[in-house]
Amino acid sequence: MSPIKQASLRLDSRVGRLYERPSGQRARRSGSRMIIAIDGPAASGKGTIARRIAAHYRLPHLDTGLLYRATAAALIAEDRDLYDEAAAVAVARGLGLTDFNDATLRTRQMGEAASVVAAMPRVRAALIEAQRAFAARPGGAVIDGRDIGTVICPDAEVKIFVTASAAARAQRRALELVQHGERADYNAILADIIRRDARDSNRSVAPLRPADDAMTLDTTHLGIEAASAEALRIIEAARTRV
Ligand code: DC
Repeated sequence: MSPIKQASLRLDSRVGRLYERPSGQRARRSGSRMIIAIDGPAASGKGTIARRIAAHYRLPHLDTGLLYRATAAALIAEDRDLYDEAAAVAVARGLGLTDFNDATLRTRQMGEAASVVAAMPRVRAALIEAQRAFAARPGGAVIDGRDIGTVICPDAEVKIFVTASAAARAQRRALELVQHGERADYNAILADIIRRDARDSNRSVAPLRPADDAMTLDTTHLGIEAASAEALRIIEAARTRV
């Protein structure tokens, strides 16, 4: 077996265990497999919507941004150059269970660093199989990211592209920081979001874009309750068609 395949399988089992469905919840029976792909830009609400959808359908959920964040975090921790593709690939192949626990993964700076390593074709290649293996679970899965509907799960039963204006997204991030008692610089956050959108959308491999068959959900004027309800409506409508 090739080293890439071996590394992917190891990550498959670890990612699988990390995101196991909550205890007491039973897997959906095979025969009703449902892969729900949720893509969108930073702070669009896709992560929260994906978690709620997963809880609703009792499906396991994978936040694929964490894979890129953990890769960037390991490089930074080892004092490596963030633009060193070979080092980033080695880290991505070696990701393990404890690599996803660190609270710093969720910071704005780590999102920016993740966006840098995520633009590297070989880093993406190193992480594809683990994501597909997660999607291939018997009952299905909810997976969120940037390229789930286009590259990782092009045959997903439901694809939703969650978006919102950059200003609305920056406002949300600023509010989150203030609620956590931190200082929020709206202009810096907005600049960060615009820069990240541009990098994620203009990269050569798996750029951020809606799949041709994705339903777009614009959350600019929606609270999280309304946005989640709309996502559910889209999914139910899609299920009646399959
Ligand atoms: O969803 P997030 O903010 O945690 O993602 C962090 C970065 O990782 C994002 O800017 C781009 C990258 N990413 C990606 O390229 N593909 C994915 N499927 C998920 C995230």
